Amino acid sequence: MYVAQPIEWTDRGVVMLDQRRLPAEEISYTYTDYREVAKAIREMVIRGAPAIGVAAAMGVALGVQKSTARTVKELETEFTVICEVLAQTRPTAVDLFWALERMKRRFAQLTGASADLAHIRPALVAEAQEVHAEKKATDEAIGRFGAEYMPREGQVMTQCNAGALATAGIGTALGVIRVAFEQGRKIHVLVPETRPYLQGARLTAWELYRGGIPLTLITDNMVGHFLRSGKVAAIVTGADRVAANGDTANKIGTYQIAVLAKENNVPFYIAAPVSTFDMSIASGEQIPIEERTAAEVTHFQGVRIAPDVPAAHPAFDVTPNRYISAIFTERGVAKAPYTESLRELVQGAPAKAAR
Ligand code: MRU
Repeated sequence: MYVAQPIEWTDRGVVMLDQRRLPAEEISYTYTDYREVAKAIREMVIRGAPAIGVAAAMGVALGVQKSTARTVKELETEFTVICEVLAQTRPTAVDLFWALERMKRRFAQLTGASADLAHIRPALVAEAQEVHAEKKATDEAIGRFGAEYMPREGQVMTQCNAGALATAGIGTALGVIRVAFEQGRKIHVLVPETRPYLQGARLTAWELYRGGIPLTLITDNMVGHFLRSGKVAAIVTGADRVAANGDTANKIGTYQIAVLAKENNVPFYIAAPVSTFDMSIASGEQIPIEERTAAEVTHFQGVRIAPDVPAAHPAFDVTPNRYISAIFTERGVAKAPYTESLRELVQGAPAKAAR
């Protein structure tokens, strides 16, 4: 089945598929400077929490590879700047910071053990490639756990794009749907278009269509109508940051879907890797919400669709844990009370049985 490749490490540099141009055009760029990678993350050439993490890891590796430092001391100074520039790109998706922390740990290990830059540089490239490879395995494990919760036959709703484009693996929410579909479950996906950036209409619809998974595209204001119909068996979305108590930040619009799901007795699931958990914050209250430009609301692809008035664009909202039926991870399935179940998963307790 077709799996999109949003990012790749090559000998020429970091290659990214420009997600802003999809589905109309499939255009890739090759970046040879970490500052270009940071700009690509900020401007959403690549987006989706886990994929942003992979891009950040590759950005660090690229910065170190291209650095002109001649000593570990010089490289350390540059390394700090590289990580800071990448950290300033998008504030909500915690995978970005997880990936930077991981690269920092590896850098400290390497520089603690050797002063040979010819050894340190390729070892950091290998670490970034490892981060990428792990995403694939992680998504597949999430998919296997989550698929058990999908209907044998019926409609499943998602939000935004939590597919291969968003993770650099097979996807989290769409990974669950993909595994369930490959198991022979007759799933039909309801895809809200996800205003204002239209990740649902442009990216999820494209991925599902390319993968041969049946779908119906709907506008965001149809969600309540469809959930009330009694025909939607489950909802599964990704996450950008999950607090220690299970409160979850995801694409703007997710919260209202979760509330409507509860009202209509439809289970609402999150699919996310453990790298998306932020155990340093007790609740969703502390999750920083990215404010993007109002032009993304007043304009569509450069065309003005509203008068010249103020517009708001919080890119994410927080769904309180009470609306979440379960969280699928690569280590198992977490259920309420999340403070305990998430802590167990993070501490590496053995994966629980799927159901
Ligand atoms: O602003 P985006 O497109 O980066 O937001 C992405 C989402 O909200 C996704 O649903 C989320 O990152 C989960 S991705 C597996």
